[in-house]
Amino acid sequence: MLTGKLAALRESALAGIGAAASPEDLERVRVDVLGRKGALAQVSKDMGKIPPSERAAAGQLLNAVKLALEEALEAKQRGYAEAELRARLDAEWIDLTLPAPGPRPGSLHLITQLREEIEDLFVSMGFAVLDGPEVESEYYNFDALNIPADHPARDAQDTFWMTSGHLLRTHTSPVQVRGMERLGPPLRMIAPGRVFRNESIDASHEHTFYQLEGMMVDREISVAHLLYFMKTLLREIFHREATVRLRPGFFPFVEPGFELDIHCLICDGRGCAVCKQSGWVELMPCGLVHPNVLRYGGIDPEQWGGFAFGLGLTRLAMMRYGIDDIRQFQSGDLRFLRQF
Ligand code: DAH
Repeated sequence: MLTGKLAALRESALAGIGAAASPEDLERVRVDVLGRKGALAQVSKDMGKIPPSERAAAGQLLNAVKLALEEALEAKQRGYAEAELRARLDAEWIDLTLPAPGPRPGSLHLITQLREEIEDLFVSMGFAVLDGPEVESEYYNFDALNIPADHPARDAQDTFWMTSGHLLRTHTSPVQVRGMERLGPPLRMIAPGRVFRNESIDASHEHTFYQLEGMMVDREISVAHLLYFMKTLLREIFHREATVRLRPGFFPFVEPGFELDIHCLICDGRGCAVCKQSGWVELMPCGLVHPNVLRYGGIDPEQWGGFAFGLGLTRLAMMRYGIDDIRQFQSGDLRFLRQF
């Protein structure tokens, strides 16, 4: 009776072990058969009910079945462990003889690329490329540009002031004065660089951005010269003839001063969201250098004249590539940067 039950239990448990399809399945079989309340525990409880003469043989059989099942379980568990290890070894296998992938080559920031392109163009037209300090004096940033202490233009530019009385330059125009001092007339210069404004930041305002200042001083400089160089610049940047217009604009360091508008490149002047349906986009303030500024630069305005312009490099990059959020430039986000 008990013998038959044990034999049947042994067969069904072995079948269960064989059929277990996962370590979890196997564990379930183990608990069912060998667990504290499992089938074998049940059988050993029933031992008390059989005649004492048969007990020794029955006990031996019980142990033998238990041992056989434990062995079968262990063997299968070992199989799982081995399979797992093999899978890991396969997955984590490394060919040490392969050449290392190496660091991914970097690339120039898109503003740098645009700056170099414009520098090359102006150098080919005889312009010098000048640099100026980012921490600037009040004199070069304002006074020498004909912006007196009480002039509203000083407040218009939200300035980062240092405790020393210096400031972070709010534009690249101070390099005009430094350039005149250094080169003397006649001169042609550009000055690309980083500028700072104490702005609250949003998609179209940044505290840090890039401008490119330009200046030419010679005899008899007129608006025609200014327009010629501006149109050449735009043709080279946008690879087509740009339609431009000049509107009067006020900047204390030029007289007359202009805003140079360009026919919207997105809609070709028909009107779209970028140009706010006007067909025109404000691109570059410019003008003829104010006699006071020439004087500050040590140049006699009776003898010499000049034009100057301030190109927003960051703005230009946004227009050229249709970038609608200025914060991307300083984000350091490689997904953005790798596109250029
Ligand atoms: N410095 C001016 C600004 O950042 C831009 C500017 C206007 C530059 C007129 C010029 C100019 O050279 O002639 O707002």
